[in-house]
Amino acid sequence: TVYTASCTAPVNIATLKYWGKRDKALNLPTNSSISVTLSQKDLRTLTTASASSDYTSDKLWLNGKEESLESPRSKACLQDLRQLRAQVEASNSDLPKLSQYKLHIVSENNFPTAAGLASSAAGFAALVSSIAKLYKLPQDMSELSKIARKGSGSACRSLFGGFVAWEMGESIDGEDSKAVEVAPLSHWPTLKAAILVVSDDKKDTPSTSGMQLTVATSDLFQYRIKDVVPKRFEEMKSAILAKDFEKFAELTMKDSNSFHAVCLDSYPPIFYLNDTSKKIIKLVHKLNELEGKIIAAYTFDAGPNAVIYYDESNEQKVLGLLNTYFGSLGGWESYQGETLPKLEIEGTDSEIYKGVSRIILTSIGEGPQETDQV
Ligand code: DP6
Repeated sequence: TVYTASCTAPVNIATLKYWGKRDKALNLPTNSSISVTLSQKDLRTLTTASASSDYTSDKLWLNGKEESLESPRSKACLQDLRQLRAQVEASNSDLPKLSQYKLHIVSENNFPTAAGLASSAAGFAALVSSIAKLYKLPQDMSELSKIARKGSGSACRSLFGGFVAWEMGESIDGEDSKAVEVAPLSHWPTLKAAILVVSDDKKDTPSTSGMQLTVATSDLFQYRIKDVVPKRFEEMKSAILAKDFEKFAELTMKDSNSFHAVCLDSYPPIFYLNDTSKKIIKLVHKLNELEGKIIAAYTFDAGPNAVIYYDESNEQKVLGLLNTYFGSLGGWESYQGETLPKLEIEGTDSEIYKGVSRIILTSIGEGPQETDQV
């Protein structure tokens, strides 16, 4: 017999960044973080996990290609899930001993890896959700998020939809370092995100080693984790609960800038933003200035791609801006059957925005979903 279960999991983009570990093996962070979960219509990982006494080893196929499950991170996840399954089996001896069977895991992204989006968060969230479903584990999402966290820190936040906090916790074993829901998708369903894929040939410093370097060398980082983030964490949660876009947006932009500042303060410095990223930052500030209020917020992770958050009520304006500056590249002349206005900002040169290769329009979304599809 082959036992099987499938789940999909979303991508999340931090609005308050996780950067720095207090424990590398357990992925325990030096600060709490907050993210928005993106819609799985546009971006998701679908994972099918199967267990059988006939399988001779654990195997993983990612987008059709066999990959290793031998990394300490993957092994930690599988070990934790098997241990929880063993507890289920111990309390009900009629159940098949799936904890002792090898696993075959087939995982697929609905977005091209070439889009330059980090997929490890959705990947580990889908891995943990599908195996938890296969094993019929009773643990809730926060409990499971601790397992996904060991796969990749940011993955713990992909276990929930809407707005999610990763509480850093204090204990050495990481038992209180978990994801919790701040607000569900239904709280603020009109929140939208545009992902600006910035072409870049250079290989970034991987986030794991980048964080280690920052923790070891940046003085500014000490200030960030002690004096800046704890306050910002509370303020951002309040802004989300109040659906205060301006406050939420300001905190999001400031935190992205603070994160890239500690990267620059690392020694040797780490650069994730390129010239195109910087132009996007200026453009968003100009748009907000022109409007007399904040209607769009940018954020950047460990690479030059931008994510721009905005509310649906301002879609025409934000897309109008993107249309003007990136239109020729993205086929933006019409969107949902409507002709977009051109929004030009005085003193800018649209020629200089050609560094964006693709724009993905998406919105806030749900957490992992069980699916029959295998
Ligand atoms: C800049 O979660 O990829 O995107 O825990 O080493 O796997 P590991 O790191 P990862 O780091 C994400 C860093 C970030 C900020 C964030 O998502 O909060």
